[in-house]
Amino acid sequence: MFRCIFSEGQKYKNLLNGRWVASRSGTWDQIFSPTDGSLVGEIPAVSPEEAGEFLETAVQAQKAWTTIPTNERAEVLHKAADILLREKDVIAGVLMREIAKNRKSSLSEVTRTADLIHFTAEEGKRVTGESLSSGAFPGFHETKLSIVNRVPVGVVLAIAPFNYPINLAASKIAPALVAGNAVVFKPPTQGSISALYLARVFCEAGLPAGVLNVITGQGRMIGDFLASHPLVNMIAFTGSSKIGKHIASLAGMKPLLLELGGKDAALVLEDADLSLAAQHIAAGAFSFSGQRCTAVKRILVLESVADKLIEKLLPLVQKMTVGRPEDDADITPLISNEAADFVQALIGDAIQKGAKLLAGNKREKNLVYPTLLDRVTVDMRVAWEEPFGPVLPILRVKTVEEAVRITNESEYGLQASVFTENVDSAFRIGAQLDVGTVQVNGKTERGPDHFPFIGVKSSGMGTQGIRYSIEAMTRSKAIVLNFH
Ligand code: NAP
Ligand code: G3P
Repeated sequence: MFRCIFSEGQKYKNLLNGRWVASRSGTWDQIFSPTDGSLVGEIPAVSPEEAGEFLETAVQAQKAWTTIPTNERAEVLHKAADILLREKDVIAGVLMREIAKNRKSSLSEVTRTADLIHFTAEEGKRVTGESLSSGAFPGFHETKLSIVNRVPVGVVLAIAPFNYPINLAASKIAPALVAGNAVVFKPPTQGSISALYLARVFCEAGLPAGVLNVITGQGRMIGDFLASHPLVNMIAFTGSSKIGKHIASLAGMKPLLLELGGKDAALVLEDADLSLAAQHIAAGAFSFSGQRCTAVKRILVLESVADKLIEKLLPLVQKMTVGRPEDDADITPLISNEAADFVQALIGDAIQKGAKLLAGNKREKNLVYPTLLDRVTVDMRVAWEEPFGPVLPILRVKTVEEAVRITNESEYGLQASVFTENVDSAFRIGAQLDVGTVQVNGKTERGPDHFPFIGVKSSGMGTQGIRYSIEAMTRSKAIVLNFH
């Protein structure tokens, strides 16, 4: 059981070639709880000079790992998922301490990730290729047969964000491993301890040394070194659009899978089921205190039903509990004071420009109360910027066309929700929305994890989601038989 290794203020080590190591520089980063500022633990602050070894040993380990039969690679993943479930209470406890995710969401992240790993193990066994005959092409006889298979890219650099340090790590690590790649994983600094527990899970499951290396350190210190390194064959990144675009500028010819920021809109039409819409919008906007890329981050509601929607939505916001993750409060402290400052600035800008405050605009350090703003207009920052906090702007529109236009004018294109009882309207409007996914009569969300998860514009590139991630972490290889 991991319980013994988690104690207050422990020094955690990186995973390098099957060994738990500190930084050779002897420097450590301290991780403090966003809830009470207490020391959660310390992680090695690895320098770029040391980071190369994490890549070099991965390259060597991958050569052997790719020769292991897929069913045996899948078995390691199944064991990892079982161990993760066994440790769910310990790891959920770390999540609560490290990123202030409430108990229910922390446990959900761990169990969801176990399911993801199991599903990935099985999906990895179903990677297939194809064969093509030359005779199908004009001027050719049946003299050539192309046998096309999928092969691993080699070493995948996985980088995850603070808000899902377990799930958005495994969503990269598991597909990469089952496909025969090795992984160098750079967790979010605030989330590193949780991520190192996940690394321990894979170790105990029997992953060979070097197949998974985990390197901690500030992204601004080692990120560029890793992203531009020639031994990295593919980068799977989840995080802000700013960092994602920066990584893309360094990646050169490396394939990328980028899941970035969002400003997901909920379009509420005149014929919407307003009770359903209110429930989904409240849950979508405020779970994990709005710190989700797929959070509902703006409502575009037809003026004729706006007051009725607010009558249903406001009580849901007002009854949300605010407090500590350990007490399972709905709204918990944001990841940092800086994050809370940013959210407060958006709220202040909106109110100063005439938005009507319906709830919230109250703060205790980095704990921001759920805030609902009505009569938000497009000249306000909160109409366009990603708060990554518990603030929800309501924009009243006169026509559906106006709602579509405002939705599409965003730099982001992750998801959008359309609430309507008319299926024709749902598909017609969905086709007009420049986003990766349109949710009909549901909140914007990534799960279930085998669904394709797509971001366009500043929301990313490529498609995440178990089978899609496996495809992104492999490439085609053809062998052509020539018959004489
Ligand atoms: P972030 O600041 O972009 O950091 C994401 C990851 O990138 C962290 O591990 C970070 O390490 C690392 N990083 C920072 N600078 C780097 C560099 N120069 N090179 C390589 N890696 C670097 O994002 P976050 O604050 O963790 O997460 C919030 C943001 O991510 C929001 O914008 C949210 O919308 C987005 N997000 C998107 C999705 C999605 O699926 N589309 C999911 C979750 C979050 P450090 O922690 O050490 O800085
Ligand atoms: O921000 C994390 C992103 O992946 C959202 O996941 O399942 O909460 O919609 P989910």
